[in-house]
Amino acid sequence: MKLYFITGNKGKQMEAKEKLSKINIDVVQKNLGYPEIQADSLEEVACYGVKHIQESFDKLFILEDAGLFIDGLKGFPGVYSAYVFHTIGCKGILKLMEKTSNRKAVFRSIFAYGQPGEKPVLFIGECPGTISETEKGSNGFGYDPIFIPGGKTRTFAEMQTNEKNNYSHRGKSLEKLMNFLEQ
Ligand code: IMP
Repeated sequence: MKLYFITGNKGKQMEAKEKLSKINIDVVQKNLGYPEIQADSLEEVACYGVKHIQESFDKLFILEDAGLFIDGLKGFPGVYSAYVFHTIGCKGILKLMEKTSNRKAVFRSIFAYGQPGEKPVLFIGECPGTISETEKGSNGFGYDPIFIPGGKTRTFAEMQTNEKNNYSHRGKSLEKLMNFLEQ
């Protein structure tokens, strides 16, 4: 089965392809672009995206919205994660972290499965962890060099795709999507 992943992010595409290939689903990246509205939750952003894509695309697809929520920064950057990454990036986050001793954080991922004429089905994954003291590793994308998943000592950027998928927010939401698609 072919499943379109509406994203411009090659890293997300690689992770989804690695995971869903296990149940013989061929994830095909399609960079159609959609408005990422400023909302209070990742769910709202994903649902709006699905509605928008369904207006011009009549095939089965998935899209995802993710965010990094840092305890010591009261949940920031959260729903602003993309904007913050493009503006101050990992270095800016590490600078903000100098003001707090609480380095706990959680990554959240919401996958939305879109079918023509149907409401989206959502799959949520979370990965608790900590923000590292410095940037480490060169794999992955986004905040991967500063996020250490719970119980580990290396950042996501120091892991290969399949290892990140074992612990990550996206690995978990994709696992739920896999179970749904298998039924
Ligand atoms: P998006 O809006 O879902 O594309 O993601 C929001 C921001 O979080 C972007 O800057 C991404 O690069 C970043 N991000 C999303 N998922 C991950 C991840 O798995 N690792 C690191 N950064 C991520």
